[in-house]
Amino acid sequence: MEVFRKVAEIKEFVRQKKAQGKVIGLVPTMGYFHLGHLALMREAKNSGDTVVVSIYVNPLQFGPQEDLASYPRDEQRDLALAGEIGVDAVFIPADAEMYPNGFSTYVEVEQLTSGLCGQFRPGHFKGVTTVVLKLFNIVTPDRAYFGQKDYQQLVVVRKMAEDLNLDVEIVGLPTVREPDGLALSSRNVYLNPEERKAAPLLQQSLLKAKEEIVNGERSPEKIRDLIARILQSEPLIRTEYIEVREARHLEPLEYLEGRIVIALAARVGKARLIDNILVEV
Ligand code: PAJ
Repeated sequence: MEVFRKVAEIKEFVRQKKAQGKVIGLVPTMGYFHLGHLALMREAKNSGDTVVVSIYVNPLQFGPQEDLASYPRDEQRDLALAGEIGVDAVFIPADAEMYPNGFSTYVEVEQLTSGLCGQFRPGHFKGVTTVVLKLFNIVTPDRAYFGQKDYQQLVVVRKMAEDLNLDVEIVGLPTVREPDGLALSSRNVYLNPEERKAAPLLQQSLLKAKEEIVNGERSPEKIRDLIARILQSEPLIRTEYIEVREARHLEPLEYLEGRIVIALAARVGKARLIDNILVEV
């Protein structure tokens, strides 16, 4: 496995692979790998791609009060795990390589980024789409792999790729979870033991909501209330939002039908956790 820190080096690596007729698969990450990240890499590998993983804690997508400084990092462990999976190249740029002095160009997907996490993290998705577009331009992947755990991010990246005619197939993969249902996240390390015990209630509330829909409930309001009540029963969980949306474009719904996503965010101790569930009516 090769490790590159310069844009020019990874570009040259990709150029050579493409000359050999290889299909390039990109897995963008902020590192501190867990099984969710590794599932994306495995899928890329199993698809026969030459797999490029980027590890970059992108300052542009963190708000001023957010956890950029404390975001967990372990480069050596990440490289060992990527190596075991058979990743071909890892791109680990420094800030000055991605955003040299005077950097002043941004890409923003409108509308889709105004609600859900966008409402509570102003500027977050602009940071995500800017760095993802840069990574797409640097690595020129044929396919790029994203997790459904960050559902709004997946929809926003798909929209950017469509609107800007990018030649990349966006592959979305299911959320990988702990045995008790908690969605894997690098931020789970912020949870103390008590908070960790409380956190699976996020997914449990979503599963209960899905059950109600399957049993015939069609009111988005009732579904939100149900989840809110379940989460209120746990004092360690402070709910940020609960949204019931049409799954493809995140349009609000007055009546539940078609492909639906129920997404939520909550603070549990120092961690801000998100989760979602897809329901087909
Ligand atoms: P990061 O949080 O490191 O996540 C990298 C990728 O792993 C994302 O596509 C995310 O959706 C996926 N992922 C995270 N947890 C997952 C889980 N439990 N199951 C399945 N997939 C999971 O998301 C980012 O980084 C950044 O915003 C990035 C896209 C790299 C841009 O900076």
